[in-house]
Order: sequence, then C-alpha cells, then structure tokens
Amino acid sequence: MVAVIQLKIPKRLFYSGVALYIVLRLILVDYGAVASKRKLEEIPLECDSVINGTEDSRAFSRAVQWDWHFNWVEDEIFKAKNVCSVIEKYFNFAKEAPTIEEAEYPLAYGLVVYKTIVQVLMQLSLFYQPQHLFCITVDNQSSDQYKAVIEALPKCFPNMKVFIGEPSNWGSFGILNNVYTCFNWLAQSKQKWEYYQYLSGTDLPIRTNLEMVRIFKALNGSINTDVSTFEVDRYKNMEGVLPPMPIYKSSMSVVVPRNASNYLVSSPRVQKLLKYLSKTWIPDESFWSTVSGSPALLPVPGSIRVRDILWLRKNFKLRPPFENTVNSIGTSYIGRYQVWGWQKECFGKVKDYSCLFGVGDIEEIMTRPELVAHKLYLDFQPAGFMCMFKEIRRKAQSPDAGKFSAKSYAEMPTVELYQGKAITQLTHPHWLVRDSFFNPSLEDFDKEVL
Ligand SMILES: *[C@@H]1O[C@H](CO)[C@@H](O)[C@H](O)[C@H]1NC(C)=O
Ligand SMILES: *[C@@H]1O[C@H](CO)[C@@H](O)[C@H](O)[C@H]1NC(C)=O
Ligand SMILES: *[C@@H]1O[C@H](CO)[C@@H](O)[C@H](O)[C@H]1NC(C)=O
Ligand SMILES: *[C@@H]1O[C@H](CO)[C@@H](O)[C@H](O)[C@H]1NC(C)=O
Repeated sequence: MVAVIQLKIPKRLFYSGVALYIVLRLILVDYGAVASKRKLEEIPLECDSVINGTEDSRAFSRAVQWDWHFNWVEDEIFKAKNVCSVIEKYFNFAKEAPTIEEAEYPLAYGLVVYKTIVQVLMQLSLFYQPQHLFCITVDNQSSDQYKAVIEALPKCFPNMKVFIGEPSNWGSFGILNNVYTCFNWLAQSKQKWEYYQYLSGTDLPIRTNLEMVRIFKALNGSINTDVSTFEVDRYKNMEGVLPPMPIYKSSMSVVVPRNASNYLVSSPRVQKLLKYLSKTWIPDESFWSTVSGSPALLPVPGSIRVRDILWLRKNFKLRPPFENTVNSIGTSYIGRYQVWGWQKECFGKVKDYSCLFGVGDIEEIMTRPELVAHKLYLDFQPAGFMCMFKEIRRKAQSPDAGKFSAKSYAEMPTVELYQGKAITQLTHPHWLVRDSFFNPSLEDFDKEVL
C-alpha cells in the first residue's frame, strides 16, 4: 500500500520535498546549537560608534534601537535543576587569573543585589577571577526563585558567599546593614585579599582587573571615599543626641584596604556608630567617610582628616579641573562614576535623581578615571551595557593591557594626605573641589585661587 501511494507522487516533487526538509532541518538544528552554545556576551553587536564615537549615525541609532530580550535565559536559570551548568553555558567566568600580577593581588567584592538575575550574573562574570573573594547579600524581599539562584552560587564558585539580608528600602538602615554584613564577613575571612570594593547590582566596571590592581597599588593603603558635609536634617530620631564621632556624608561606593577593614570590624566605636546611624535618615551615605575621616578618634589605617578637606573647600575657591581621565584624575573619589540629574545632560533617562546611562553616555564613560559606572540596566538601551561589557573584555585581552599606568592615581589628594602631606602642600589641591554630588550651577570659584 505504502509503496503504491509513494509511486503516485511525482518523483521531482518528492525529491525536492526531501531536500527542502533536510535543508530546513540543518538550518534549524544549526541555529539551535549555536544559540545554546554561545555565551551571552558573544552576541554580535556593532559597538564602534558607541565606544569610540566614530561618526556613523546609522550604526549609532541601530544601537539605541537594539532591543534584546533575555527573559528566556532568566526562565532557563529559574527552572534549572542544575543552576551551575546553565551559568556555565551562558556566562564566561574566568578559570584563572590572566597574569601573575593579578594572581598575586586578590581583591574582595561585597555586593547587595535584589533583581535582574541575568544582569547580575553578567556583571559578576566580568569582575570574576578565581583568586578574588565575593560576598553577596540579597534583599529578603526578592522573589523566592531569585533568592534560590543567588544562594546556589557558592556551589558553582567556592570563592563566593551569600547572605539573605534585610529589606533594603531607600533611606532605611537595611541598605547599610546589608553592605556591612558582607564587609564584616570578608574582613573576618582567613583568605588573603588586598582591597575591598563595594558594588551595587547595577554597576559595570570601567576598568579591567589588571587596571584595578595597579590603581589599588597606587592608593598605597589609603581608603577611597567620597567626602561631603553631613546634612543635619538626616539626624531624624537622633536630633540632639551626640554621635560617637563627627558624621560626614559620602557615597555608598568605597574601596578599603585589608588592614583598615580588619580594624573597622573589630572597633567598638564603629559598632556604636552603626547603632546610632540605624536611627538616622539615609545611613548608607553616612558611614564610610565618617569611619575613615577622624584618625584622632578612630586611628584606622588608611584614614585621613576629612575636616581638612572641608576646610580647604570653604576657604579657597579653587577652580574645578577640566579633565577627568586616567592620566589626570581630576577628582579624589574614584569609587564610582554617577551623574546626578542636575549635573549634566543624561542621554539615557533620569531615575531616582541620577542618570540611568543610555547608549549616548558610553563614549564619555569610557574616558573616565573611576573604577565603575553607576547605573546601567540590561533592559534599558541594552546596547549601552553590552558594548561597555565587550569593550572591557577586549581591553583585558588586548596585547596592550599591560601598559596601563596608574601614576596619576598616586597623585590624588587623599593618597598624598594619607602619606603625610599637609593640605596646603598637595600636588593637585583643585582635585578636591567637588564631591560627587556637586551642582555646577551653584559653583563660584572666582574669589581666590590657590
Ligand atoms: C575602539 O578603538 C580602539 C582603538 O582604536 C579599537 O582597538 C577598538 O576595537 C574600538 N572599539 C570598538 C568597539 O570598535
Ligand atoms: C524580611 O526580614 C524582615 C526583618 O528581618 C522581616 O520582618 C520580613 O518578614 C522578611 N520578609 C520576607 C519576605 O522574608
Ligand atoms: C596597612 O597596609 C598598608 C599597605 O599595605 C601599609 O602601608 C600600612 O603600614 C599598614 N598599616 C598597618 C597599621 O598595618
Ligand atoms: C607608598 O607610601 C610610602 C610612604 O608612606 C612611600 O615610601 C612609597 O613610595 C609609596 N608607594 C607608592 C607606590 O606610591
């Protein structure tokens, strides 16, 4: 019967049908295999106009329009029986340190995360090296499946530790507490590391790991924080109650050398301060400069007298520097590059008062001296995130990677102050003029020039 029916089909039609079937199958199978084998970071994307600002307006608008959906990866991660193998499939975590210099200079990263698992894994994979130590606190308000994936990470990477934290709502103590949980764990750990760096889940590095290492060496044991004046309305419930030490304002991001970290977590005065700050407003911005800014009260290794900086700003109207690059830092706070809505044009969109960077911001970000950029979302103009990601990977693998010089970082005022220079003897006093919250429209630097 079958043979009879087959014979009735014209031969040419039959053979072309078979051929078409084979070709289609090949195409489909092939594409399927490629897509599932390719790491997300290898997705093809034309980034020249985004990174280097080449005059190709069509490529640039294609990048702005590029809409990449990663929900299928998220689904696969959330449904996975073996999370580690899905991570291995889509993300590129380094198996070894690229150079001996990096292997011999391990770093400690403390993160607080609460959403977008694909973005957080991409971010982690870019910072990741096996010699480092990672600690992640996940907000306890995150979804159960999100928490479960983050909690599984130490099974895939033995150098990662995870805590379920408190709710970290804006302005509340939960944020600082979650940051401190990891900072404390990293400092108590027996593993060797040289510098601690805080990261939020929406930071991307502007530097390669080797560049970070050289910069930390140039800091020479000094702590790097933003320095600003405490706003008295933030005393909230503690109005009129004397704090254990003078409070200064800083940004959340910070880098702290190992011996300073050990000192801080064993200090009773720091414990008192944390208790005090828990009843104030936005305590996460009141911690780092406070603990590293009063060496007479709290002799933390790496600390400097913050009140000298405030004195300089008040009494000398210095011109802010024109340049902020790796060869002329122009600031003394390199923790992270963030643009507040009042500071300059944002080519992405302003969210919670600060710029959520878009494709049009990336070219400038790549020229900045800071360690990381804050903030980028993988679901907002994702070509910005992906191009920046690819560029840092490219730089790390480039034959020129070893040429990076951190000389200018060693000339930052906070480094010189830590090494004992007086505030009036700094190589670049005008690098201190601005804190990270500066408002250019309120600046007035014509009174006296040092
Ligand atoms: C940017 O320029 C550098 C140096 O000319 C080049 O090596 C790199 O490939 C360019 N980046 C992109 C994304 O095209
Ligand atoms: C999160 O922690 C807080 C306090 O630690 C607790 O009150 C709350 O119930 C927790 N929420 C969830 C979703 O677990
Ligand atoms: C802390 O470490 C730095 C850099 O390694 C070193 O210069 C400094 O002497 C150390 N301080 C203390 C108190 O051990
Ligand atoms: C670090 O500081 C010490 C003095 O405290 C100085 O002798 C040394 O040259 C500095 N190292 C760097 C790399 O600047």
